Amino acid sequence: MVKGRHMKRSVLLSWITVGFVYFLMFWGNLVSATGSGLACPDWPLCHGTVLPPPRPDIILEWGHRTLAAIAGVLILTLIFQVFKSKDASTAPLKRAGRWLIILLFVQVLLGGTTVLLGLSPIVSTIHLIIATVVFSGLIAVAVAATWGKGLVLHNSFKVQRLAKAGLIALIVQVALGAMVRHNGFGLSCSRFPNCLESFLPIPLNPGTALAFTHRWWGVLLLGIFIHLPLAARKTAPRLRGASITLAILAVAQVLLGIATVHTGLHTHMRATHAAVGYAIWGILFFIALRSGSFRFLWDASVDHRSHPGKGKAVHV
Ligand code: HEM
Repeated sequence: MVKGRHMKRSVLLSWITVGFVYFLMFWGNLVSATGSGLACPDWPLCHGTVLPPPRPDIILEWGHRTLAAIAGVLILTLIFQVFKSKDASTAPLKRAGRWLIILLFVQVLLGGTTVLLGLSPIVSTIHLIIATVVFSGLIAVAVAATWGKGLVLHNSFKVQRLAKAGLIALIVQVALGAMVRHNGFGLSCSRFPNCLESFLPIPLNPGTALAFTHRWWGVLLLGIFIHLPLAARKTAPRLRGASITLAILAVAQVLLGIATVHTGLHTHMRATHAAVGYAIWGILFFIALRSGSFRFLWDASVDHRSHPGKGKAVHV
């Protein structure tokens, strides 16, 4: 078991990695929102060199690859720390670490495939989903490293149920958003609340169907996000702040989605809309963990109800 300064460093490293990967996702979203995805037509080099010409689109795309390499080093260092720990309670984290390494490897290959296949919408969508899963894995490591056996603040069945349903519905929504973006269907429903001339997606084609489903699935999702603070107030008061933040972001997200359409896909709007979407995911995953979801991620032998929020940090 490693203690003291080393532990503080692990906690710090885990949160820095979470923040950095969010920044990387934000940057990747800028690359696609500005249409810079093919600014480097080759991979892994860019225009056959490590120092490509400093054009704005090339800086964005090459910057994304450089940030991804730094994120890879941070993630591997963090996983190495987890593996070094002799604390028995880190066994589930070690399993998660192995998965993260595999996902990281797949993600790098997908990044390259995305470029070499000329930005295939399906590969770009899978690239985003894997990024979201890696981001969640890192949040789990950071939460476990920070709070250890006390990571469950409130073992609230109500909040767990809403958070899990929200995560499933949200990953569908993120995938739908990515399909809309990468297929160029952002203005297939160019009005709101009407799709085109009528509320329903007429004429019905892949573009109107996806855009219509994404927007109204997003509005329906508000039901879960508004319910969450109400459930937290009664059964998980220390998660109330996070769930209120989430509800506010979700309402802002719907408004940003509408603004994205009304501004004809203005770069700032579409980039902010996607970035808020990733933040919503991160906060919801955090709430799910701290309300007692995903038992397999921590030591199941601990009775969390008798020690809510009082455990020691896991010494990774
Ligand atoms: C909670 C609700 C919502 C969430 C979480 C969400 C999430 C997302 C995400 C993550 C993307 C981009 C995916 C990527 O990075 O490739 C996206 C794209 C998009 N969303 Fe949403 N969305 C929501 C609601 C809405 C609503 C209500 C509308 C419209 C009224 C909307 C319109 C769009 C459009 C037009 C795009 C494509 C923009 C582009 O081409 O860059 N969204 N959404």
